[in-house]
Amino acid sequence: MNTVADLREEYKGQLLDPSNVNPDPIKQFDTWFAEAKQAELPEPNAMSLATSTQNGSPSQRMVLLKAYDQQGFVFYTNYTSRKSQQIGENPSASALFPWILLARQVIIEGHVEKVSATQSLQYFSSRPFGSQIGAWVSDQSEVISSRSILEQKWNEMKEKFKEGKIPLPDRWGGYRIIPRRIEFWQGQENRLHDRVLYTRLGEDWNWKRERLSP
Ligand SMILES: Cc1cc2nc3c(=O)[nH]c(=O)nc-3n(C[C@H](O)[C@H](O)[C@H](O)COP(=O)(O)O)c2cc1C
Repeated sequence: MNTVADLREEYKGQLLDPSNVNPDPIKQFDTWFAEAKQAELPEPNAMSLATSTQNGSPSQRMVLLKAYDQQGFVFYTNYTSRKSQQIGENPSASALFPWILLARQVIIEGHVEKVSATQSLQYFSSRPFGSQIGAWVSDQSEVISSRSILEQKWNEMKEKFKEGKIPLPDRWGGYRIIPRRIEFWQGQENRLHDRVLYTRLGEDWNWKRERLSP
């Protein structure tokens, strides 16, 4: 068996406590996201997104956070992909930001809904030409026999859409995770890590804050 048991880091970060975080977890996320950018972490908006089938089989993959506010956390993808099929069966998800260089993670859980086509179009149109074409080319998550099929389709789509605005593909758009639980985790010495959990109370935006044992 290959062992990696000797890979061991000591963590030490700012002390985190329910009393010294923002009462609003989105504002707390703002602060930590700004610190992740300032620390020049690679792709600080990359999050591991977990979804599951109706009967509870989980799967995960990285996606990029593209917007967040009091309404939730937004990412964009292909609506016929495996993740989207799972969201269709079970509209809840968890997203994890692995900010390991800061000895931090943020974990979001909540209900998932599609963003409006208007919002998807707005974001789609802001993407570089190559990314817009890419969305037309890929049947994300489908088995494909070779790379050359992708390249051929890329050339076709590039030709088809060489003039004017590229339309939003029907099968492409955004999802919003509406959080009901957000955990901020800060690594500390001797594995006595700080964990602050925000839980949303009812349907309004009041949040309970609690410390969890590491
Ligand atoms: C850093 C990183 C960022 C990614 N961002 C996205 C994204 O924003 N949207 C997306 O659909 N796929 C993104 N991917 C690809 C996904 O991880 C995944 O391969 C793809 O969405 C298909 O997943 P599925 O088959 O589980 O639906 C990203 C991959 C990496 C490594």
